[in-house]
Order: sequence, then structure tokens, then C-alpha cells
Amino acid sequence: MAELILYFSRAAENYFGGSLKYIDKGNTEVVAEKIAAATGGTLFKVEPETPYAEDYNTCIEQAKKDLNAGARPKVKAMPQNLDQYDLVTVMYPNYWGTMPMHMFTVLEQIDFTGKTVRPVCTHEGSGMGRSETDLKKCCPGAVIKKGLAIQGSSVHRCDEILKKWIDS
Ligand SMILES: Cc1cc2nc3c(=O)[nH]c(=O)nc-3n(C[C@H](O)[C@H](O)[C@H](O)COP(=O)(O)O)c2cc1C
Repeated sequence: MAELILYFSRAAENYFGGSLKYIDKGNTEVVAEKIAAATGGTLFKVEPETPYAEDYNTCIEQAKKDLNAGARPKVKAMPQNLDQYDLVTVMYPNYWGTMPMHMFTVLEQIDFTGKTVRPVCTHEGSGMGRSETDLKKCCPGAVIKKGLAIQGSSVHRCDEILKKWIDS
């Protein structure tokens, strides 16, 4: 199965189990690269045209505003030639209980008919939240597998969990 790994991730100040820390690579990106290394899937990063702030507290307010407004913020580019992929691994951080709104922007423009989707969410305590329900609405026609939730602060030691998930 040809696989596209479609992901959103933000490298900047973030919250890790009680304190704020600056990271050079986002948690979801760390996991996306591990999956690509294991499966040979093609990585595509969803990048906001206007990125959220580096400062965590400003970022969470911006993301909340977009969520409450039902915004579909612009992205720099859309993935191309999607016909070649049967499997799309959709990866994102949990933002206020669901996917970042930029993921809605992208997913709603893709024809998922006949494709299999596997959701992977990184989070800091809320797991998948309601993201799987939202994802189903964005991807009519897709077969959606059960999601995998990984705590953001444990992405550097999730190899065992990932291996089991990929093998299943
Ligand atoms: C705007 C924003 C909203 C967030 N909302 C939640 C949340 O509702 N529940 C949760 O468990 N974690 C939440 N988090 C934490 C992230 O989901 C977590 O740190 C994730 O691993 C970040 O992934 P990234 O580094 O790939 O962007 C939030 C983080 C941000 C920046």
C-alpha cells in the first residue's frame, strides 16, 4: 500500500507536564518521521500560511479563536497526486480537543473515496479528544482505522508502541 503521512506540527514553545519548554522539532513531527522510517511512507507537512505565535500562551489563544470561529486558515501548499496513495496516515496535535483547524482546511479538499485513513494524535493529557469524530466528517468515503494517541512528552520513547501499531 502506498502511504502518505500527512501531518501538522509546531516547533516552538510548548507545554510539557507542568512547564513551558522551547523545542526545535514538534512532537508530531518526531513521530511522523519515525513512522516514515518504518513504513517508507511519504511525508507531507501541513504548514500554515500565517503560523501561530512561537509564544505558547499567544498560540493557544489564536488556536481557540480559530476553533470557535470554525475557521479554515490558509495553508502554504496542498499535497499533490493523491491518486497514488491508498493509505493516508493523518497526524496532528490535539488542539482544544480536536485537530488544528489547518487540518480541516486540507482534509476537506481531499477526495478520500476508497482510501484508508489512520489517525495519530499527540497530546498532553486529552488523548484523541473528539478528533476521530471530526476526522470522520472530513473524510467521507474513507475507511477510518482506530486512532493512536501518544503523549507529546513521550514521543522520543514511543518506538515499541509504534511498532505494535504499525504491525497491526
Ligand atoms: C494551541 C494548543 C492547544 C492544545 N490543546 C490541547 C488539548 O486540548 N489537550 C491536550 O491534551 N493537549 C493540548 N495541547 C498540547 C499538544 O497537543 C501537545 O503538546 C502536542 O504534542 C503538540 O504537538 P506538536 O509539537 O507536534 O505541535 C495543546 C497545545 C497547543 C499549542
